[in-house]
Amino acid sequence: MKVGIDLIHFATSDFYLGLDVFATEKNQDFDKYLIGIGQEKMSIAPPDEDIVTLSAKAAEPILAQMNRQMISAVFFATESGVDQSKSAGAFVHSLLALPNRCRVIELKHACYAGAAALQMAVNAVKANPNEQILVIAADIARYDLDTSGEATQGCGAVAMLIKADPRIVAIEPGSGYHTEDVMDFWRPNHRETALVDGKYSTKVYLNSLKAAWQHFTEVSGRSFEDIQQFCYHIPFTKMAEKAHRQLVKLAQVEQDESVTLAQIAPSQQYNRVVGNSYSASLFVGFCSLLDHQSHLDNQRVGFFSYGSGCVAEFFTGIIQTGYQAVLMTASHLQQIRERTPLTYAQYLELYHGSALTQADVTLPVYHSGPYRLVGIHEHKRHYAKTS
Ligand code: HMG
Repeated sequence: MKVGIDLIHFATSDFYLGLDVFATEKNQDFDKYLIGIGQEKMSIAPPDEDIVTLSAKAAEPILAQMNRQMISAVFFATESGVDQSKSAGAFVHSLLALPNRCRVIELKHACYAGAAALQMAVNAVKANPNEQILVIAADIARYDLDTSGEATQGCGAVAMLIKADPRIVAIEPGSGYHTEDVMDFWRPNHRETALVDGKYSTKVYLNSLKAAWQHFTEVSGRSFEDIQQFCYHIPFTKMAEKAHRQLVKLAQVEQDESVTLAQIAPSQQYNRVVGNSYSASLFVGFCSLLDHQSHLDNQRVGFFSYGSGCVAEFFTGIIQTGYQAVLMTASHLQQIRERTPLTYAQYLELYHGSALTQADVTLPVYHSGPYRLVGIHEHKRHYAKTS
């Protein structure tokens, strides 16, 4: 039985900060960002947008195409949790009017949790083919001001319907994985922003790719030549380029640099202008591949998920015949196109306004919806559907 992603849709915020504006403010050469790390813009979430509202925005267009009463579970991956106990998925479950006969759980391991949620959902459907599971990966990447990570912020949520006989991609058995206790990027419970040992994190990412790839080739029996398209976790697009070059070397493949870059270019378009969305980033990259490269029918895609700390996994999937008929490309392009650019001062206002540590606060309206965080009262978050 084939199991995998039947529908996929991503959402990002209504605002962005151009890295040209950022570079001017920081007295840096714009090329350091545009060429050096391969980023052009980063999506910025206003205070009344969080992982819950972004996730509901990502999932609603999927649910609108099906009987939502059939959703048997929501696996919610994030490292920007809004509560230490309650799953963010429970808020989303309510906003989306999902059935009470549904299991909801939040998964965490840095950027890896989205891939973990997908694999858990695939296995749950294999065990019970009647299950239809909503996997959501959502994050707001936030670093301290004036740190190396600040230029690699961003936000996004990806919702995926996992079921039998999927229309987009069937996930194949045979994953390679790697876990190692390292401190390359972390966010202690008392902090709103992540801490990172930036250069070290890029080395651990590459080492983890090597280990996960070796495991993958052993368990799957597949080689580089069996895979036509590649999607990486993309903290910034240059990282994925470095990773893919390393994989080509590891696999001892002789090919032109232009071929190497073409194998990952379609998957990088959205991330370049959205920024890092941590657990969602790999799947924003997958949406980008689907939306920017045609004739993918029956091609094998290699997915590399990396979560700092660290856990990594390499796995593959086969694109299904006719997949293009169910893509939501227009919505993705429209969201990106219609964002409002921010000045650096406006970015700072949203940045500081998003640190919500108060027990009681009513938030001004920053964005039109379709979902908003209305406020926090007696330490309880309140959300609303606005359109
Ligand atoms: P930095 O140290 O400020 O930048 O930040 P740099 O000086 O190393 O420059 C970056 C690149 O731009 C270099 O190229 C420069 O040569 C080049 P490289 O040596 O890397 O090939 N450059 C220029 N190019 C053209 N024209 C110019 C110019 N100037 C410089 N004028 C750093 C880099 C990665 C440290 C920073 O972005 C950072 O701290 N990022 C956050 C951490 C991160 O994203 N790590 C990635 C791996 S870990 C991961 O992916 C997990 C994560 O998503 C979290 C999770 O799992 O939850 C982060």
